[in-house]
Amino acid sequence: MNLKNKTIVMTGATSGLGLVAAKHALMQGAKLIVLYRNPELLKALEDIGDLVPIQADLSSTVSIKNACEQIKSSYPHIDILANNAGIWVFGDRKVTTEGKEMTFMVNVLAPWILIKSLGPLLDKSTDPRIINTASALHQGTINFEDMEYNKSFSGFKAYRQSKLALILMTRYLAVQHPKWAIVSQHPGLVSTSLGREGGFFSNFFFKMFGISAEKGAATLIHLMECDRATIKSGEYYVKSTLAKTTTADSKDMVLAERVVGYLEGVNW
Ligand SMILES: NC(=O)c1ccc[n+]([C@@H]2O[C@H](COP(=O)([O-])OP(=O)(O)OC[C@H]3O[C@@H](n4cnc5c(N)ncnc54)[C@H](OP(=O)(O)O)[C@@H]3O)[C@@H](O)[C@H]2O)c1
Repeated sequence: MNLKNKTIVMTGATSGLGLVAAKHALMQGAKLIVLYRNPELLKALEDIGDLVPIQADLSSTVSIKNACEQIKSSYPHIDILANNAGIWVFGDRKVTTEGKEMTFMVNVLAPWILIKSLGPLLDKSTDPRIINTASALHQGTINFEDMEYNKSFSGFKAYRQSKLALILMTRYLAVQHPKWAIVSQHPGLVSTSLGREGGFFSNFFFKMFGISAEKGAATLIHLMECDRATIKSGEYYVKSTLAKTTTADSKDMVLAERVVGYLEGVNW
């Protein structure tokens, strides 16, 4: 698909692999609506193409809803929603100003709210796509009894669970919305700022062992651009192709239904 004149909403476009994908989309002539939080970082995207910046903090449901209202009041349809923003909390449990565990909020609830709010605009596109950046780190299962790790917090477990929830949510929404191409993807281990909160060693780990952000952005860009007929909606992609091996839980549609049921019950 040619991205020229496509309207794309993207989160996590100011850093790492999202920044590469965002620059690419702008250079291809897309209208790129970027939900950003830091004006300084937005400068990297200015003067490239048709950029529509909307300030939004994905740790706040109010902020996300405001951003969605701005989009809905200005654009009759959108073609692609790329939920790429994500965080990994290192150290102590972090809580948003609204009392939600930070990983759950940014990695799961924010994409959920964006999909629910912007879904009607996607329905008006001739080729609607949602691309959720997940991770190969999605082992384990969903801790429904304590989804936000109130009792015993582990940033690693919270991150892993958030990506599993995203993969499952993707599978379930694909069944509910047959017109959409909705997929999840793993970008590889990428040299980005994802480990920023973990100090020197975690930063060093990503920088030392990660592939370049350009390579990390390849699957996301591929899923934005490839022919719709080649996309299997609901699936999980790695290296621009359907992933051959994922965990049993990440394919479990009963679990997927429970995740969506849980999210339907969250107040936002
Ligand atoms: N790096 C890897 O090895 C790897 C592996 C698997 C999956 N992933 C996933 O890839 C995605 C992109 O991450 P990355 O590696 O490129 O890391 P990154 O460089 O840290 O980029 C993360 C992006 O998310 C944005 N973001 C985080 N919290 C936000 C908030 N509260 N409100 C608005 N934006 C927020 C950041 O905004 P700022 O620029 O303002 O900070 C940034 O643009 C994430 O979903 C991550 O989980 C990464």
